[in-house]
Amino acid sequence: MFSFMERNNNRKKIALSGIKPTGSPHLGNYFGMLKPTIDMQDEFNMYIFIADFHAMTTMHDKNELKLSIHNLILDYLAIGLDPEKTIFYRQSSIPEVTELAWMFNCLVTVPWLERAHAFKDRVARGVDASVGLFDYPILMAADILLPQAEVIPVGRDQIQHVEMAREIARKFNNIYGETFVEPSEYIKEEVAVVPGIDGDKMSKSYGNIIPLFGTDKEIKKAIMGIITDSKKPEEKKNPEDCNVFALHKLITSEPQLSEIKKGYEDGGLGYGDSKKILLENYLELIEPMRKKRKYYEENPGIVRQIIDEGNRKVQKIVKSKMKEIREKVGLI
Ligand code: TRP
Repeated sequence: MFSFMERNNNRKKIALSGIKPTGSPHLGNYFGMLKPTIDMQDEFNMYIFIADFHAMTTMHDKNELKLSIHNLILDYLAIGLDPEKTIFYRQSSIPEVTELAWMFNCLVTVPWLERAHAFKDRVARGVDASVGLFDYPILMAADILLPQAEVIPVGRDQIQHVEMAREIARKFNNIYGETFVEPSEYIKEEVAVVPGIDGDKMSKSYGNIIPLFGTDKEIKKAIMGIITDSKKPEEKKNPEDCNVFALHKLITSEPQLSEIKKGYEDGGLGYGDSKKILLENYLELIEPMRKKRKYYEENPGIVRQIIDEGNRKVQKIVKSKMKEIREKVGLI
């Protein structure tokens, strides 16, 4: 495993992550994306932004958009985003990304952009795609390239978008001279897929989620509803075949995890009891996050200050880069 620390002068690399404000996070988002990103705060020069321009590709209700943005900011702060370590901002606070996206639009071809899997999937599922949705990877490339991000933590579904950003950087550099860093995707294999309550990948669109900030009742309903086979408590069971145990592996720590494993293998632990333990441990895991979220909910002034400060920092960074870009393309 190579270190992400720069070979020369120990400069921390810039890592960047964007997330669309489209609904409350679930456990799959937490382990798959949110936590791994937050865990990078020390090792990297971290940028995290709310992809509100991207949300507009599918969200056209003003109040819904505003509320989703606010909630996502609270979620991030609750799970441990530290504004002292991370530049936390809103995509729309730097309209330069749209300007740069326009320049990129003029460099790539329609057939090249049509290769994007995410776009093809949406069209295949009958979505009447807007031009914005089609152009999604270009705006994402601008998000990444403008602040010169080097490492992009993403889920598997977003790898191609990072590849596209890399190709755009190369193309621009070839035409106008060395301007952009070529970014790399970064995937934490072991947490890439979190199973939902039916064993499929946890996803809002499959309706199999455990909410991260749900009420006790909602969380209990989800966990007690995890699908299992019909083996009786006293029967021997293979823990690796059990959706409840798959979630224990993420949430339950040792030595309890080994005890549960033994209870499956020797018989004696029923699925109902296994779920109850999981529920207990889950509520314990989220308790500190809930407390933090409540604190920020009750202190909107502090939240505003944090985001304003992040916006200011990133604005300063991209302003000089944009000037350089305008010069390179011949607009100054
Ligand atoms: N496309 C990402 C997603 O849907 C969100 C995103 C937008 C993003 N811009 C980005 C992620 C830049 C990483 C870097 O999850």
